[in-house]
Amino acid sequence: MSQPETTVYVCTVCRSKDDPEVRPGQALLEAFDARLTPDDRAIVSAESVECLGVCSRPCTVALAARGKWTYVLGDFDNAADVEDLVESARRYTASETGLVPKKDRPEAMRKGVVSRTPPAPKG
Ligand code: FES
Repeated sequence: MSQPETTVYVCTVCRSKDDPEVRPGQALLEAFDARLTPDDRAIVSAESVECLGVCSRPCTVALAARGKWTYVLGDFDNAADVEDLVESARRYTASETGLVPKKDRPEAMRKGVVSRTPPAPKG
């Protein structure tokens, strides 16, 4: 079986804006993973990561795939955002370049873009 095309990295050490003792990333990661359908799992995998350098916008996630632009997104902090993250991963995977036009992004992705980075040069 081949590796899923898209990796969704979820920071599991971000601290909640409401309660700095809480680190909500692990719950986000588990909720995201639980919502993936078998078809999703063929194209998307999820991994925890310790800090994406955007600690002021918890939870922070990144969408990445070989040869595509990488998005770093912030502010995924409630249950509704989980569904948006699943849909964001689907739309990202469906895009040839990884770029998703703003009008086609789920709300949490539209509001949460921290950065987008072009693919690494070939060679
Ligand atoms: S701790 Fe989550 S981005 Fe830094």
